[in-house]
Amino acid sequence: MHKFHSLTIKSTQSEPNAVIWTLAIPESLAEEFNYQPGQHITFKAQINGEELRRSYSICSAPSRQGEIDVLIKVVEDGRFSQAAMNNYQAGDSIDTLAPSGHFVVQPEEKANYVAFAAGSGITPVMGMIHAVMEQTDTAQFVLFYGNSKTSDVLLQNQIAHLKDQYPTRFSVHYFLSRQKVDMPVYQGRFDNDKVQLVCENMLQNIDVKDYYVCGPGAMIDSVCEALASAGVPPKKIHNERFLSDGQEIPLSEKTIEEDAGVTVTIDGANHEFNLKAGTQATLLESADVAGVELPYSCKAGVCATCRCKLVEGEVEMINNYSLEEWELAEGYILSCQAVARSSKIHISFDE
Ligand code: FES
Repeated sequence: MHKFHSLTIKSTQSEPNAVIWTLAIPESLAEEFNYQPGQHITFKAQINGEELRRSYSICSAPSRQGEIDVLIKVVEDGRFSQAAMNNYQAGDSIDTLAPSGHFVVQPEEKANYVAFAAGSGITPVMGMIHAVMEQTDTAQFVLFYGNSKTSDVLLQNQIAHLKDQYPTRFSVHYFLSRQKVDMPVYQGRFDNDKVQLVCENMLQNIDVKDYYVCGPGAMIDSVCEALASAGVPPKKIHNERFLSDGQEIPLSEKTIEEDAGVTVTIDGANHEFNLKAGTQATLLESADVAGVELPYSCKAGVCATCRCKLVEGEVEMINNYSLEEWELAEGYILSCQAVARSSKIHISFDE
């Protein structure tokens, strides 16, 4: 379940400063790679002698059998994304962890969905739009998509194709921050004022079931705040931050105050190790030192690949950019961000 599998890159396709990989999913892995629209997969690769892990969202339509697409934004200093663009080609293989993530949609008939996406934040949203269109006959999706300029817009052809295919159920509004546009409403970033304007003028008569927000941290904060001040209940607002390849969120210097014994349940087996008082290691790092392999990607509290349930004990999280309130309430934690706060800890990846 939490194992990397070697998948073949069937084909590659260029997008503005990005590349799409189509990965072949063999029949034997079909069940494990069955995903919910909005989820991501994690790659592991040795690049210049260093093991790198990166998560990328699935952007293809669920109806495509035996293959999935991920979009990899290429960043100037991004070690993985540069290699993805320049070193990998069709026929190569890549170690891949099965889909995970909770930024997902469960399409329902007659429901209205709205997404605010910025830049490569379109990727998981694209998977959601495909699913809502394909899996219902009546649900609607409104996309607000922000970029610097037209030439940066990702997945433009796919979006146009969906508009042609579902003209009455899918609509898209493009916003540009560094290129002049004719209508002032479409000029600029998704800041608080812009989102309020959008809510008042474009969504006023729509009973929205769920809002999805994906982009850089500051954009997410602005959109979520504006939606909340427009009266949208928190449970209807879902967001996913992304880290650009190579971008890291610094860890704080929290330490544990007492020795701790940790039990980890994963794939039906229990593993145990100890933590010494004063260590600054997170549960994920300590497990690694103890030789217990756990799933992770960003190690920054963003991707939720390391999400598990705290079955017993207390932990404190350094950063949390991915778990929602209900997950915290049900005891889910990010093992890459959790430091022990009690002498006995039990976490499970099987729940
Ligand atoms: S590894 Fe990404 S949130 Fe922990």
